[in-house]
Amino acid sequence: MFDFVKRGGLAGVEAGETAICSVGHEANNLTYRGYTIQDLVKFASYEEVAYLLIYGKLPTAKILNEFKQELIKYQSLPPQICNILEQLPATSSPMDVLRTSCSALGNIRPESATNTQYAIATALIPFLVSSLFYWHYFTTSGKKINTVTQQSTIAGHILALLTMQTPNETMRQALNASLILYAEHEFNASTFAARVCVATGADFYGPITAAIATLSGPLHGGANEEAMHLIEKYATPAAAIEGVREMLREKKLIMGFGHRVYKTSDPRTEFIKKIAADVNTERGKTLYAVANAIETEVWDTKKLFPNLDFYSALAYDYLGFPKEMFTPLFVFARVAGWSAHIIEQRANNKLIRPNAAYIGPGVQKFIPLDERKD
Ligand code: COA
Repeated sequence: MFDFVKRGGLAGVEAGETAICSVGHEANNLTYRGYTIQDLVKFASYEEVAYLLIYGKLPTAKILNEFKQELIKYQSLPPQICNILEQLPATSSPMDVLRTSCSALGNIRPESATNTQYAIATALIPFLVSSLFYWHYFTTSGKKINTVTQQSTIAGHILALLTMQTPNETMRQALNASLILYAEHEFNASTFAARVCVATGADFYGPITAAIATLSGPLHGGANEEAMHLIEKYATPAAAIEGVREMLREKKLIMGFGHRVYKTSDPRTEFIKKIAADVNTERGKTLYAVANAIETEVWDTKKLFPNLDFYSALAYDYLGFPKEMFTPLFVFARVAGWSAHIIEQRANNKLIRPNAAYIGPGVQKFIPLDERKD
């Protein structure tokens, strides 16, 4: 009998097979298509990683170049999408904007024999970036920006739209590393939602829309934004230790800590932490000192380690992103992983429909409406 107390949330359950990613199998490590995250961060670009995930093998230089040209081609937004984005309020959550934009594109450029799943997987990466920034500028300043930056990398495209300037190369590299770290993570909640959706035979846009919605919650993608709120709350490491100690006493969750699969550390953290540690600004140094104090306190008290989201918050702050854009950055990276899973699910599809253990009442006699009492 399944132990729901110990294993609620399908913890520890192998809910299917994948050849895309392994999490915590060998020495707590993470691999994409058999390549370690260490090698990919050190040697690859996000575009190579996205191609690897979607097509299953590393591209040659020629193919990578063609792939990058495709990514540039899809930086522009169809006019109908611009119209829709202009109708969304400034108070919308950026994650909701992305969800709507993705769903709308499914109506405008539906999947077909000519608009294949591979074309959509490629198009969605720059498309989602362009959508967010188009909405952002329109709702904050009324400007209808040209989203075509001609940047040949996704990190460059994101930074060019954020700053409206040619990206600084150090910052572009930092963002590139973060996109690689976020690109894929096996059967996490949003990917699983995408697989459940596509397994019914839905079109390509449906599962990506479901995945964006699933990622938005604070227990999943929303954790990086929540981590920043926490770190910013404290002016000094001493105040942070005091505050976090109190939170743990009250059994509150510390966002950016813990993980469903990793039990001793998150192999992605060291890379993102290094980016945060290298920041030389006054603000960056203070935030890092506070974050470090929180890390030590949470480890000493609960033996919980920071996951990727915790120090990502500092890295994104340094790169100049407002907090509300932290989770969308996760989308820009993870859309490649989601696409890979949709393609894999379709290749050997079976409807995902588990059973539930029924815990409700036994069969009851139906009471007519006029005989029911309060
Ligand atoms: N802060 C405080 N306590 C935490 C915690 C956190 N971030 N994460 C786990 N714990 C505690 C739980 O309360 C539980 O304590 P208990 O045994 O005293 O009840 C214990 O650690 C085991 O945690 P559990 O809830 O079983 O882990 P899970 O596998 O269900 O949850 C997460 C995994 C990621 C959902 C969880 O760690 C969490 O909510 N983290 C914060 C959100 C976050 O960073 N999400 C991004 C994940 S990449």
